[in-house]
Amino acid sequence: MTVVAVSGGSFAAYDVVVGRGLLAEAGARIAPIARGRTVIVSDETVAPLHGPALQASLAAAGVRSEIVAVPAGEASKSFAELERLMDRLLAAGLDRKDVVVALGGGVVGDLAGLAAALYMRGIDFVQVPTTLLAQVDSSVGGKTAIDTPRGKNLVGAFHQPRLVLADIDVLATLPDVQLRSGWAEVLKHGLICDADFFDWLAGDGAAGARGDPAALERAVIRSVEIKSAIVGEDEKEAGRRALLNLGHTFGHAIEAELGFEEAALAHGEAVALGCCMAFRFSVAQGLCAAADAERVEAVIAAAGLPTRLAQAGQFSAEALLARMAGDKKAEAGGVTLILARRIGDAFGQRYDDTAPILDFLKSEGAA
Ligand code: GLY
Repeated sequence: MTVVAVSGGSFAAYDVVVGRGLLAEAGARIAPIARGRTVIVSDETVAPLHGPALQASLAAAGVRSEIVAVPAGEASKSFAELERLMDRLLAAGLDRKDVVVALGGGVVGDLAGLAAALYMRGIDFVQVPTTLLAQVDSSVGGKTAIDTPRGKNLVGAFHQPRLVLADIDVLATLPDVQLRSGWAEVLKHGLICDADFFDWLAGDGAAGARGDPAALERAVIRSVEIKSAIVGEDEKEAGRRALLNLGHTFGHAIEAELGFEEAALAHGEAVALGCCMAFRFSVAQGLCAAADAERVEAVIAAAGLPTRLAQAGQFSAEALLARMAGDKKAEAGGVTLILARRIGDAFGQRYDDTAPILDFLKSEGAA
């Protein structure tokens, strides 16, 4: 078991605990902050799988709990579901000193985190992420949000959790596509700033993409270390945190064009494809050696993730570019991309003139 401390000048420090069998110990770890009761927010898939173990562990530590399960899937990141959840927290009688526990993947963490940020002007929450993507990315760093019909994550708050418990054992029940999707974010962390980690992920560590628990544990720990160091420096994404968006501006545009339908392309699959595109664009701009982009593509393909636009569907270059310019991270009139000088060395580059991006999208097969 490993504890990674997340600390920065702008928020209270907290621990991310990564290890096996953590669900069974969760009660003892949550009890000191839960004052004898809590509400667990989960979804209808995860609640029956892991809710009983978490509730038993809390009960053994003297914490009463009830579970609120929202429908599984991105559609639960809505005003309607947030309102329902707030009402359940009020009905449960939580006060400002109580905590909420998020048990689930990114959707549950984002929704429960935002509810915690708003409830009585802000109460504490604990993240118990049950997907690889949530363990290595969304449960750490305090981004919480819901979607609106105008786009994803457009209404939210920075609200750091009080504690994160990443139990590697819960990943054993993950569908393959979700494991691969989370693995894309793991690879992303190596690509951003740790070439040695990427080398390991390409070699012995690749077993993690097939569910090997020891490799997964090491991959989660290193990812959390990388993410927490970046968040500690730049909580509100004024600078360095934007590096975590490697692959996301291309990826979000592709997801948006596909309509964010879960069956079409998982988020991590879009990120993996976006990372390949970011490296190829870096090569096209003369910023990165072609050999690096080819290696990134080979490693991502070996993990069963898409590397080429045609694998995701047919796209219009203009439509993709419009989505990229409409990304909430875009400043008016341009596009900021996270590019790479080499594997393990990413940086942000703003394009006021987006013609090179349009040409690139056409070279990638967009019409
Ligand atoms: N998922 C990117 C971030 O947390 O900043």
